[in-house]
Amino acid sequence: MNTVTCIAARADNAYNGDTFRTMNNTGVRIMGSYEDVSNKLQRFHQEQLLRYYEELDEAAGEGLLQQIRQTDFSILDNMGGEGSVKRGEITPLKAMTLDEIREKEGSYREEGLQAIRRGEVGAVLLAGGMGTRLGSDDPKGMYNIGLTKEVYIFQRIIENLLDVVKESGTWIHLFVMTSDKNHVSTTRFLKEHDYFGYQEDKIHFFMQEMAPATDREGRIYLEEKDRLATSPNGNGGWFVSMDRTGMLDIVKKEGIQWLNCFAVDNVLQRIADPVFVGATIESGAAVGAKVVRKNAPDEKVGVMCLEDGKPSIVEYYELTDEMRDARGEDGERLYNFGVILNYLFRVDGLYRIMSEKMPLHKVEKKIPYINEAGEKISPEAPNGYKYETLILDMIHEMGSCLPYEVVREKEFAPIKNKTGVDSVESARELCKKNGISL
Ligand code: UTP
Repeated sequence: MNTVTCIAARADNAYNGDTFRTMNNTGVRIMGSYEDVSNKLQRFHQEQLLRYYEELDEAAGEGLLQQIRQTDFSILDNMGGEGSVKRGEITPLKAMTLDEIREKEGSYREEGLQAIRRGEVGAVLLAGGMGTRLGSDDPKGMYNIGLTKEVYIFQRIIENLLDVVKESGTWIHLFVMTSDKNHVSTTRFLKEHDYFGYQEDKIHFFMQEMAPATDREGRIYLEEKDRLATSPNGNGGWFVSMDRTGMLDIVKKEGIQWLNCFAVDNVLQRIADPVFVGATIESGAAVGAKVVRKNAPDEKVGVMCLEDGKPSIVEYYELTDEMRDARGEDGERLYNFGVILNYLFRVDGLYRIMSEKMPLHKVEKKIPYINEAGEKISPEAPNGYKYETLILDMIHEMGSCLPYEVVREKEFAPIKNKTGVDSVESARELCKKNGISL
């Protein structure tokens, strides 16, 4: 597992957006001479990035300069201030339990279906990640989990969404976030498979931004002599990316008021689940978060809580023994509900937090690079960091959240690894238990 550290630096989500927006809206190519680029590099102590410039042909050289001009180096500003961000006071946040949901399931379902039929609910598939742990060169969604036939992860997700389309009689707009590393293959693959039966004009693709990857001292690596090493900038910038890429025009035009954001890797993911939608609307919260009961007190999942009175997620390694064992008056553990990366956000709340700065997390990573002798090195162990903002930090900013319990065996089959915990194997088992033929 990669080590994740939250550093004191805060990423300004708007920065990347503004840079690109300037380019897109005006059509102006950001120009600058070699000297301008060199000055920028000096300012950030990244002169090594032009080490091979003299060896490059004109097109490759210009490509490198252009990439440096467009890259957000501001995240490197606070690298020196590394250290855990001080957490606020952590207290329990009660979840809506399965029993409570069952009692009002009918009315929640009706309320959710009505919102869907009014076109107020959209879905956002976060598929820009690298899926490094799975170890496939293709985007994760293209992974075939079938045994006797082809069953792709994307297919499972779309089939699940189609259940709600059928139940509500309404096509739900599906926004798919990709990144520079997988956009072309993702869009091509889904088109080739006729979007697994989804209506083409209801699927909208958009790309997230990339962030530079560095060594442990904060120096950006060269992935090739003419290319910086970059990584997708995390799943926390999705709404800003939707703005930059014009997706929010669709949201506005269609009157979408709720966006259900979910991870690509959970093949039992229920999307735009009417009961969840209805319960969240009825609760008055700005976000609903699907949660599962932990299978053991020390399970390695982030747990819903309050931090200084606002919803938040406490990571498993931040839980003290006392918190892990704490029980409420009803005998239930107080920190017992883990998030599964399925959140329903109220759109007006997202606009409100859009310009907020988000905490920046740095994650240890194996980064292939060109060394000083000009050789390509593929490290066997982590040799630096990628930088990300995370969707879970948005929950805190939104101010209020309904943790909504779901049955783990029915809704949570994440594929992170090839074998073992949260793997292709474990997901196949869960699919079989749910009657999904593979
Ligand atoms: P993970 O944290 O599991 O990361 O993403 P990952 O990149 O898919 O996998 P590893 O860690 O390299 O093995 C959780 C969800 O967030 C999306 C992923 O695609 C997945 O759906 N994500 C992650 C993005 O959309 N963009 C990112 O930059 C990172």
